[in-house]
Amino acid sequence: MDVLEAINTRRSIRKFTGEVISDEEIKTILKAGFQAPSAHNRQPREYIVLRDKEVLEAIADFHQYAKMLPKAGCGIVVCGDKKLQPIFGFLISDCCASIENMLLAAHGLGLGAVWCGVYPMEELMKPMAELLNLPEHVVPVGMVVVGKKEEDKEPKDRYDETKIHFDSW
Ligand SMILES: Cc1cc2nc3c(=O)[nH]c(=O)nc-3n(C[C@H](O)[C@H](O)[C@H](O)COP(=O)(O)O)c2cc1C
Repeated sequence: MDVLEAINTRRSIRKFTGEVISDEEIKTILKAGFQAPSAHNRQPREYIVLRDKEVLEAIADFHQYAKMLPKAGCGIVVCGDKKLQPIFGFLISDCCASIENMLLAAHGLGLGAVWCGVYPMEELMKPMAELLNLPEHVVPVGMVVVGKKEEDKEPKDRYDETKIHFDSW
């Protein structure tokens, strides 16, 4: 799949077969995450790969919009290290760029994936940090839920010329 096809056909997939994805597929997705741009090239991202059923269930218990996680069989939590990037807005931006790369990589592999937000919701960040034993200086930003898909979604064309401005608003 070429890059424009991947961008234009990616959709959030929330229904999974329950079959687990391979270590090789996980590595390919992680590598795509590492390749994302990074402000000042600080590379402040850390990744926690979740496959333990109990951990997946525990997250689904407190994250109301990640109920699909246990059935997907894998989640990758993208975290930002505040010591490596003290400018908080850049830290979050770096993690989000990484998440989008990972979603596209998963799609390119024929897998289903969805971005589950964590930052800035305190009620999600706190239990996530506790459950995953994150050090104080590490912020959980978002989670890529990924697995073998049980649904396919039609691409959506969201191009909207009314939102495009040339040279000034
Ligand atoms: C910051 C962020 C947080 C999101 N959090 C969730 C979430 O917790 N659970 C979920 O199912 N989808 C989540 N999504 C996915 C959006 O719902 C989805 O991208 C949007 O509905 C558009 O659909 P599409 O991805 O298929 O184009 C999130 C997306 C973003 C960018």
